[in-house]
Parts: sequence; C-alpha cells; structure tokens
Amino acid sequence: MMKIALGADHAGYRLKEEIAEHLKKGDRKDHSYGEYEVMDCGTNSEDPVDYPDFGIKAAQAVRDGVCKYGILICGTGVGMSITANKIHRIRAALCHTTQMAKLCRKHNDANILVLGARVIEPQVAIEMVDIFLATDFAGGRHERRVKKIAQLEMEVH
Ligand code: RB5
Repeated sequence: MMKIALGADHAGYRLKEEIAEHLKKGDRKDHSYGEYEVMDCGTNSEDPVDYPDFGIKAAQAVRDGVCKYGILICGTGVGMSITANKIHRIRAALCHTTQMAKLCRKHNDANILVLGARVIEPQVAIEMVDIFLATDFAGGRHERRVKKIAQLEMEVH
C-alpha cells in the first residue's frame, strides 16, 4: 500500500481531514490505482499552530522514504511550500488547478502536493489529490532539469 504523509496547520486542518477520509475510503473516480495508507503528521484541531512544525515532519517522512508522497495544507499553501522545499530531496509544488497537479508530477517529479485551503474549493483539492497521485513522471528532458535542481543540494551557496 502506498503511504502518504499528510500535514496541515489550523487553516488546513479541515481539508486535511477530508483528504484523509477520501484516501482511506478509496472512492476515487479513477480506480486504476490502489488503496493508500495515510501518515497523519497533524495538526489535529483548529487551534492556532505554526505550519513549519507540521510541514517539516511530513517532508522528512517523504525525504526518508517512509512515505512516497506528501500532501501539505495551510491557508495559502505558501508557508508550507517554502518550508518543505528547504528539506533535501523534496520537490513541493503549490497547485491551484488540476492541470498544475498533473504537470507538477509529469514535468517536475514533485513529491509533495501543497494546497491552500483558503484559496481553493475542497472539491477541486480532492480532484488535485487524485490526479497528483495517479500521474507518473515523464522523465526524458524533464529528468535532466530535475537533476540540475538536485545538484543544488550538493553545492554551498
Ligand atoms: C495562518 O493564518 C496562515 O498564515 C497560514 O495558514 C499560511 O497561509 C501561511 O503561509
């Protein structure tokens, strides 16, 4: 079973719960892929928290191979994407449309989908999750580009 790390702050908490339910239920329109195991990295209420605490935990689970992909949610998605992209081997993509969710997998081999709960509709978010998880990296010329990003992690700036 593919393991997915979910993380959110208070602004993303409700959407995180919806996505977790959706993944566990397996009620996706596209049944071509299997069930998911969810690693819930919190937060677990709408009490105010600091998004880096939860983004770091989920991103580290992806970096360490404990989870194949991560889904991070805050109000805009900006804080979570800045946070996650500090972690080595993380390519976190802040997406607003289903097309972005598809292309960030195909072209960028994104391993974390970032969503802004205050700027998108929950139904669109669920669709983005399904598309993100069902789309493979296209490789080829895109592989060369992604490798150039990975190279940055080896260099001192
Ligand atoms: C919390 O109010 C908000 O700042 C946070 O969810 C996120 O949008 C930060 O980028």
